Amino acid sequence: MQMTGSVSGMREHVTRLREKGHRIGFVPTMGFLHKGHISLLERAREENDVLVVSIFVNPTQFGPGEDFEAYPRDMEKDKALCSEAGTDILFSPSPQEMYPAGFRTTVSVSGLTEGLCGASRPGHFDGVCLVVAKLLNIVQPHRAYFGLKDYQQFKVIDRMVNDLNMDTEIVGLPTVREPDGIAMSSRNSYLTKDERKSALVLSRSLEHAKRLVSQGVREASTIEAGVREMIGERPFTAIDYVSVVDVEELTAVQTVEGRALLALSVNIGRARLIDNAILEACD
Ligand code: PAJ
Repeated sequence: MQMTGSVSGMREHVTRLREKGHRIGFVPTMGFLHKGHISLLERAREENDVLVVSIFVNPTQFGPGEDFEAYPRDMEKDKALCSEAGTDILFSPSPQEMYPAGFRTTVSVSGLTEGLCGASRPGHFDGVCLVVAKLLNIVQPHRAYFGLKDYQQFKVIDRMVNDLNMDTEIVGLPTVREPDGIAMSSRNSYLTKDERKSALVLSRSLEHAKRLVSQGVREASTIEAGVREMIGERPFTAIDYVSVVDVEELTAVQTVEGRALLALSVNIGRARLIDNAILEACD
């Protein structure tokens, strides 16, 4: 595995690989890797000639008072995991390398970024779009892989790549969960033992909502209320949002017809956790 922290170093690799006609698969991450990340690495490894992974805790996507400083980091372990998963090039730039003095540009996708996480994290998706646009320009991958755990992020990035005619195929892959159902997340490391028990309610409430839909419930408000009630019963939980939205536009829907997305965000202790599920009405 080759490693570089410089944009010019990464570009040299890319030029060489593209000259040889290699197809590049890319997985951008903020590190502290878990099996959710590894599932993306494995798929990218399978589908491309070369696997590039980036590890960069991106300051521009954290708001004031959020957990940028505290965000978990373990570069040595991440290197070992990347190497084990068959990574060819690990790109881990410093904040100064990505945002040198004088940096002025912003990237913003409207509409899709206004609701859900965008409502409580103003500017967050601008930061995500900015860093992903930069990473895609630096790495120039044929395909880039994202997790559907961050469904809104996936949709926003897919929109940006289409709108800006970027020559990368965006691939979304399913959420990897712990055996008990909790969606894997670097932020799960913030949870105490008791908080982790409460966090089980996220995936369980999504299952409950799916059951409601299979029993014929169609009103979004009824589903949201059921989920809110379940979460509210658990200690340490503070709901940010529970919303049934259109799978493409991410706008609220009144009734579930065909497919809809149930997305939720809950603060548990100092961890802000998100999860989602597709609701499917079969009639
Ligand atoms: P990070 O949270 O490190 O996640 C990197 C990628 O792993 C994202 O595409 C995310 O959706 C995916 N992922 C996280 N948990 C997952 C799980 N349990 N199952 C499947 N995939 C999972 O998301 C980011 O970093 C950043 O915003 C980034 C896109 C790198 C831009 O800075």
